[in-house]
Amino acid sequence: MAAVTATIEAAAAHDLRIGIDIGGTWIKGALIDLASGTPAGAVRRLQTPAGGNVGAVADTMDRLVAELEVECLGAAGRPVGVAIPSIVKRGIAHSAANMDGSWIGLDVQSYLKSRLGRPVRVVNDADAAGMAEALYGAGTARKGVVLVLTLGTGIGSALIVDGRLVPNFELGHLEVDGFKAESRASAVVRENEGLGWVEYAGRLQRYLAHVEFLFSPDLIIIGGGISACSQEYLPRLSLRTPVIPASLENSAGVVGAALQASAAWN
Ligand code: BGC
Repeated sequence: MAAVTATIEAAAAHDLRIGIDIGGTWIKGALIDLASGTPAGAVRRLQTPAGGNVGAVADTMDRLVAELEVECLGAAGRPVGVAIPSIVKRGIAHSAANMDGSWIGLDVQSYLKSRLGRPVRVVNDADAAGMAEALYGAGTARKGVVLVLTLGTGIGSALIVDGRLVPNFELGHLEVDGFKAESRASAVVRENEGLGWVEYAGRLQRYLAHVEFLFSPDLIIIGGGISACSQEYLPRLSLRTPVIPASLENSAGVVGAALQASAAWN
């Protein structure tokens, strides 16, 4: 379990880290000031190589880090935190969503460390986003059981209990009404199926009501790019639990990845 408090201490000790968020479409990266949780320069993005092969993705990350080192004063030689859409245990990927099978079983952390020539720490993308929201965003100083759901290509989830992360909480794969939840209620599914907000909110309601029944969270935070239009679907939900939009929106994964990079010094 990773502690937000431990991360605060690490952030205070070493201020600038590189965060990289690997998604199905874009690989985003930035130098992050951990004292404020904000990018210390532009957030750069490069297209994810088709198929998401691990070697091709590492090449793209190498380019991204080189670009950040040219553009951002203070980026040179900084450790990198990497958020990936996989179950991650001790640096090894145990699943691969929207990536090819070359990730599964690979010690991604050691591999990227040798490819990027610097300390690297790898974390699940939703866990990264969740920790960033807990420390700098909509979940700041919230006690109890906080569930952060990222609605994007899939559905990512992070469970944070009194500021401590329970890692690899894969609630996008819950089966609801015979379907995997993320195949019905992710943001990309809404776009691909051309769903209006009323219909989409209905799907979210069904999913969130099930999640609420199973886990009784104290707060649900909705992240991913779709959190920017939360007024379209949040007022249509009816749950006992407060549901609020994430405040870091699309940069949460990059910020959360950079937070993890603090641990890469060890
Ligand atoms: C994956 C998760 C990931 C989420 C968001 C899901 O399909 O299983 O590990 O966090 O997508 O990318």
